[in-house]
Amino acid sequence: MSAYSQIINIQLRSLKPAHYKQIIALWQRAELPSRPSGRDSEDEIKNQMKRDPELFIGAFEDEKLVGTIIGTDDGRKGWLNRIAVDPDYRRKGIGRALVEECERRFRTRERRIFGVQVEDWNEDSLKFFEDISYVLHREILYLSKRESEDV
Ligand SMILES: CC(C)(COP(=O)(O)OP(=O)(O)OC[C@H]1O[C@@H](n2cnc3c(N)ncnc32)[C@H](O)[C@@H]1OP(=O)(O)O)[C@@H](O)C(=O)NCCC(=O)NCCS
Repeated sequence: MSAYSQIINIQLRSLKPAHYKQIIALWQRAELPSRPSGRDSEDEIKNQMKRDPELFIGAFEDEKLVGTIIGTDDGRKGWLNRIAVDPDYRRKGIGRALVEECERRFRTRERRIFGVQVEDWNEDSLKFFEDISYVLHREILYLSKRESEDV
C-alpha cells in the first residue's frame, strides 16, 4: 500500500500568513519546541514566508492543519525544518508525504541534497527519517553561535 493511499483526505498546500495561529497550535500539540519571541514570531514567520512561499507546506484535512514542514534553501542544500504531524494523525504517511513534497519543491530549485537536524533524544524522528531513506552521519557534530537565547 502506498503512503498516499492512507491519507486520501489529506491535501498538501502552501501555508499562508493567515495560518500562523494554527501553525503554532499544531507545533504545541506535536510538542515541537518553538521560539514565539524569536524566529517563530508572527513577524518572522511572515517575513520568511514572503522570501520562500513555496517552502512552507501544510497538510490539511479540509481546513484543519494536521502537519507542517518548512524548507530552507541555503543555495547548496535544501534543509527540512519544523516537520510536525498532529498526534491524532501519525503513522498514516503524512510525515513522509510532507518530506517528499518538500524534496519535490527543492528539486525545482536545483537542490539535490536534502538535510535535517534531529536532536539525539528524538528517537522517533531518527527512526522516521532513516525509514524514509535519510542517512545518519554520526561523525558530524552541530555547532552554532547565537546573538541571544530567543533567536
Ligand atoms: C516524526 C513525525 C513527523 C512523523 O510523522 P508521521 O506522519 O507519523 O510519519 P509517517 O506516517 O509518514 O511515517 C513513515 C514511516 O516512518 C517510520 N516512523 C514514523 N514514526 C515512527 C515512530 N514513532 N517510531 C518508529 N518509526 C516511525 C515508520 O517506518 C513509518 O512507516 P509505517 O507507519 O508504515 O511503519 C511525527 O512523529 C511528529 O510530528 N513528531 C513530533 C515532532 C518532531 O519531533 N518532529 C521532528 C523534529 S526533527
